[in-house]
Amino acid sequence: MAEFITKITMIKPDDWHVHLREDKILKKVVNYTGTFYKRAIIMPNLNNPITNCSQAISYRNQILRAMNSNCIFQPLMTCYLNRFTIPEELEIGFFKKIFIAAKLYPNCSTTNSKTNIKKIDHIAHILERMEKIGMPLLIHGEEINKNIDIYDKEAMFIENTLKPLRKNFSKLKIVLEHITTKESVEYIKSKNAKYLCATITPHHLMLNRNHMFSGGIQPYLYCLPILKRDIHRKALRKVIASGDKHFFLGSDSAPHLHKNKINIFGYSGIFNASSSLLCYVTIFEKMGALKHLQSFCSENGPKFYNIPVNKETITLVKKPYKIPKQINVGKDVIIPFLSGKILNWSLET
Ligand code: DOR
Ligand code: ZN
Repeated sequence: MAEFITKITMIKPDDWHVHLREDKILKKVVNYTGTFYKRAIIMPNLNNPITNCSQAISYRNQILRAMNSNCIFQPLMTCYLNRFTIPEELEIGFFKKIFIAAKLYPNCSTTNSKTNIKKIDHIAHILERMEKIGMPLLIHGEEINKNIDIYDKEAMFIENTLKPLRKNFSKLKIVLEHITTKESVEYIKSKNAKYLCATITPHHLMLNRNHMFSGGIQPYLYCLPILKRDIHRKALRKVIASGDKHFFLGSDSAPHLHKNKINIFGYSGIFNASSSLLCYVTIFEKMGALKHLQSFCSENGPKFYNIPVNKETITLVKKPYKIPKQINVGKDVIIPFLSGKILNWSLET
């Protein structure tokens, strides 16, 4: 189903889920996001997580200071929920537009996620407040019980946690982040998009779990939720190719230094900010679904968050783009997703 399109001008996209980290990593990765996106939702799982308004303001300023003058984007901050989050703090932060949303990491579900939220009931009073003020809840949707097979954690989360949660808080706005399974696709698309949507990453659209072990273990493809069977990847692709409004762009670009990836306890996370948008275009083109690219990248997200779509446009051209092999960070490096590979789409210069 090849589409013979060689140039696309579209509303400038937003990345609704990105990790920028701090200090020297932040300085290296921030401009990739600024090159392709107008706004980005910044994840709060720093070593010292963002749990209140003053931390969010100072982290936001750190991000703004790290940007090049030609790569300016708007960082939209999130609050990291834990058992001690104060509902009033969230409310003030939301109304003052310091926070766009709050993020729920089930306890020890991924990088920097010791939230002590072992059961959703622990934060019922917080969720109640968020529902009341219309503040979105962003969820890393994996069940944390160690007895659950890693490949089933997302599907179990829907059954054991998300369904009861939505029953108790039917008007709470929720984004199920970086979904990876057909179960998530089916569940999300059957619900009201005003209250429940999902983001999808380029890596979960392009790869399946075989890729993680092809030719030897591939630590750079280790992320959470983990890559799944190909039937799940196909379900993700099919639903975005249908133009369904419940789904939008969230790259989950998650940089880690090489020394932390290649380690006896290697970190999870894929850094894809250098190519995420070009990957999405490649995927939509391959599926013959370019007519739905703009809604996925630039329209469905703002609609869910009740904010205007961007006024700016960007133009992508069918021209080879070589993804950097590595990004030097002091004496270490970050290896990007598809390192050194060539994509057929570039940003028009
Ligand atoms: O693989 C992941 N890495 N998944 C997440 O949810 C978090 C991220 C990170 O912060 O490194
Ligand atoms: Zn993430």
